[in-house]
Parts: sequence; C-alpha cells; structure tokens
Amino acid sequence: MMCSPIAEFEVLLKRNDEFVESYKNSPMMQLIKNSGMEKEPFRQRLLGAIQVLSDYFQKVVLLRSVLSETPAFKAAASMHLKEEFCHNEQLMKERNHQLATWDPILEATCSWFVWKMFTISEEEQTVLIHLVLEASGNVFFQAAAPVIHDYMGTEYFKIHAEADQEHEKMGLNLLQDLSKKQYEKLFAIQAQGWSMFLAISERIAALVHLLPESGG
Ligand SMILES: [Fe+2]
Repeated sequence: MMCSPIAEFEVLLKRNDEFVESYKNSPMMQLIKNSGMEKEPFRQRLLGAIQVLSDYFQKVVLLRSVLSETPAFKAAASMHLKEEFCHNEQLMKERNHQLATWDPILEATCSWFVWKMFTISEEEQTVLIHLVLEASGNVFFQAAAPVIHDYMGTEYFKIHAEADQEHEKMGLNLLQDLSKKQYEKLFAIQAQGWSMFLAISERIAALVHLLPESGG
C-alpha cells in the first residue's frame, strides 16, 4: 500500500508524542516530580548538569545556523538562534558562575547532538532540534520551572517553560511533502535522538544521586 507524505508526516508526529510520553516517566522527570529538588545539593547538581546540556544545545543551534544553506531552513535556523542566543550564559549567571559538572557520559551523549549537525540533512537536523531537544525541553521546563522557582528566582527556567512549546513546532512545516526515503531517515534519527536523550536523562538523574555531597 502506498503511503502519502501527509500520512508519513503524521506518523512522525505521532511517534514523537509516544517518545514524549515515555520521557515523562524518565528518571530525570521523576526527580522533579518526587520531591527530589527539596535537597539543596540535589538542586545544585541538577543545575550543574543542565548547564552542560544548555552549553551543548547552544553549540547545536549555532552550528545548524552556520552550516545551513537552503533558504527556508536557513530562515528557520536563524529565527531559532535569535530566540536561544546566549541562554546558557543566563543559566551560568544564575548559578553564580560555578563550573558546570564534568562527566564523561554526559559529555559524550550531549556532544553527539553537536556532531550530528555536521553529518545529517537539514530535515534530520530539524527533527533532532525541534522534535527531540525542544520537545523534551518543553516537558522538562514546564514541570521544573514552578518547582525550582520555590527555591530561587530563575529567568532561565521561566523563559524555557514559556517558549519551548512554540520552539517544538518551529520548522515542522519543512518536514511535510518529503519522499518515502527521506521519511525513513527521519524516523531513524528521531529514534536515535530520543534514545540519546533518554541516556542523558538517566545519567543526569544518576549524577544528582551519586555525586559526593561536596561535588557538583
Ligand atoms: Fe527553546
């Protein structure tokens, strides 16, 4: 049976909803939901790990914009960059410029997203950035912003809780009307991206619980 591009596009979005649902039960989300943030050292460790993610996300958005050559994708990348520019520095400021966590697994999994900007198509980049990173950010910041806000004033969490819903949808119109082969590639990068992100989430939860009291 032939599948139309519209049907394939809808499958892409439906699969994303399923990935989002499983992320809602991830260890990182459990930390937020299960009073994990009541302890000051746990909060500091979480923020130290989010700093790593935020620093790498900045590189991803910058690189995508620098490397983009197709007018429609270039415009989408530029618009997104303008909204995200230097947000990692905002978090750094709110964390009183403490060094970010250094952890080999976190470095490896986060830098995978940066590396992919060099090697995949602009359609695939759109999936990784908007359907994986922004969609997970939307879930995380909506849940975490009110919790973290009880302990510290944070513009960084507020901005993302408000903006990432829109960021999740940016550029998705460019993923309509593609060929079957292109959709197959999008399904593959979508699954890989979520798998990487779930690994990040598991590692962050482990770091929050595992680092010594003086760490982070
Ligand atoms: Fe965003």
